[in-house]
Amino acid sequence: MPGITLGDTVPNLEVKTTHKNFKLHDYFSDSWTILFSHPGDFTPVCTTELGAMGKYAHEFEQRGVKLLGLSCDDVQSHKEWIKDIEAFTPGSKVTYPIIADPNKEIIPQLNMIDPIENGPSRALHIVGPDCKIKLSFLYPSTTGRNMDEVLRALDSLLMAAKHKNKIATPVNWKPDEPVVISPAVSDEEANKMFPQGFKTADLPSKKGYIRLTDVS
Ligand code: BEZ
Repeated sequence: MPGITLGDTVPNLEVKTTHKNFKLHDYFSDSWTILFSHPGDFTPVCTTELGAMGKYAHEFEQRGVKLLGLSCDDVQSHKEWIKDIEAFTPGSKVTYPIIADPNKEIIPQLNMIDPIENGPSRALHIVGPDCKIKLSFLYPSTTGRNMDEVLRALDSLLMAAKHKNKIATPVNWKPDEPVVISPAVSDEEANKMFPQGFKTADLPSKKGYIRLTDVS
């Protein structure tokens, strides 16, 4: 995938949004941010996705995480569209800003392009307070995203960051479930870091590389 990717700094673009105009780094700088793109306003799948984001907003807020949408139309169009979004998803409030990109100038700079269609995609970057991309999803316009998975992936990133990336989360992990200790951590170090202890899976190889610990 050409363009900015994991570990890269998001360019400090000046953006127009439904709230106010700002530079991206000013928005990102004091928290984690979920930046998500949409092909255009008044389109069916995007309408459901932005509504769902509004319904999940309290989950992100509880975690101190900001939302920032982007759609390839202008601010006035976004403001009209928000009325439809909130009407279609009862209980949803679009309290987060949506960037305007009517000329599709911003979306390539944020690497939110579908290379097959050569047009806007349903991309999503989770950006850290250091303005670097920590995780990216890239979906084609035909596939709506799953907000439970966005939240689950975010919880994994926050958990790994809390433990200085010395842990990782296994398949289908959810908060409150055990995490794995990174292979880069020795058993001796793990004993110091995790006084609650850890369980090593007894595998045919006897290599002891799956070590589970409870951090909840
Ligand atoms: C949609 O949001 O429904 C959509 C947008 C672009 C292409 C196809 C579907």
